[in-house]
Amino acid sequence: MAILVLGGAGYIGSHTVWELCEAGRDVVVADNLQTGFRASVHPKARFYQLDIRDREALDVLFQAEKIDGVIHFAASSQVGESMQDPLKYYDNNLHGTMVLLQAMVAHGVGRIVFSSTAATYGEPERVPILETDRTLPTNTYGETKLSMERMMSWVSRAHGLRYVALRYFNACGAHPSGLIGEAHDPETHLIPIILQVPNGQRPALTIFGDDYPTPDGTCIRDYIHVTDLAQAHILALDYLLNGGENNVFNLGNGVGFSNREVVETARRVTGHPIPAKIGPRRAGDPARLVASSEKARTVLGWEPKYADLETIISTAWAWHKAHPNGYES
Ligand code: UFG
Repeated sequence: MAILVLGGAGYIGSHTVWELCEAGRDVVVADNLQTGFRASVHPKARFYQLDIRDREALDVLFQAEKIDGVIHFAASSQVGESMQDPLKYYDNNLHGTMVLLQAMVAHGVGRIVFSSTAATYGEPERVPILETDRTLPTNTYGETKLSMERMMSWVSRAHGLRYVALRYFNACGAHPSGLIGEAHDPETHLIPIILQVPNGQRPALTIFGDDYPTPDGTCIRDYIHVTDLAQAHILALDYLLNGGENNVFNLGNGVGFSNREVVETARRVTGHPIPAKIGPRRAGDPARLVASSEKARTVLGWEPKYADLETIISTAWAWHKAHPNGYES
């Protein structure tokens, strides 16, 4: 009996596959390689290059493999792009998930853990954010992820499928082995952009806005290491396989760091001055996003191991220094 990881060649997917394979689980990976990398897939996983919107390809896979449960990362995930090309997000994220669920129902596969996001909350009413707080996305990406959660809920009622939605806060860092890490093109996330400066790939970074209602005026985020996220997926899948009910969990460290603090920490880690300019605000950025992950800790027994930002950035730095062009170097 195998675990199917869709989008298993992407950033968080590849780290989850790595942890599953190292734990001795039987893993099947499917990815269309549009943003993922074949080289990031653990050598023990069986690989299928397919798009989840391709029902025939999914049927072939479900017929060839005996799948116990699915972990679903296959989605588009850039907030800015989702505002410029919303229909791409409806197509990849919602239509893709719809085809996947149709195939799962047809083949009698009834357990799924999938990537949701802090973007389902939009501008939070309070922090730390609880899973029961208001969800009012401010971008198409968050909207499609919230709709995916709702789709699962209705399909669950009709067909008995059980699901866990994991709402990540700011995923970051790289595998401690240094073998896999973050590689986006274009890169939009703060930590990899900061590290491009000591890596000689940009002269400086721009901090988007310093007039937010936070102590130093820059946005505050909750940074969670990708290996900790990977462990949460495994715990969530085992929770479902052991009879757990449908559930939604936030995944964060519960500590917020401002953009200035992240830059300061990266300066300490790299020993580089990392020049930073202040620019205008980026549209749609909430001032402060911090998770309450008490529920994941209590119900799943999740314990993040990389609570310290310096350690998180050190793992990212080890990866980016050794792979300045991602998997192409
Ligand atoms: N930032 C800069 N300069 C940069 C890049 C980012 O100042 O060059 C700032 C952003 O404005 C923001 C913070 O750094 O204040 C973090 O930005 P990221 O782009 O790294 O991450 P986000 O918080 O925007 O996005 C993350 C996930 C999304 C998810 C979102 C939820 O990457 O998938 O949280 O709001 F949707």
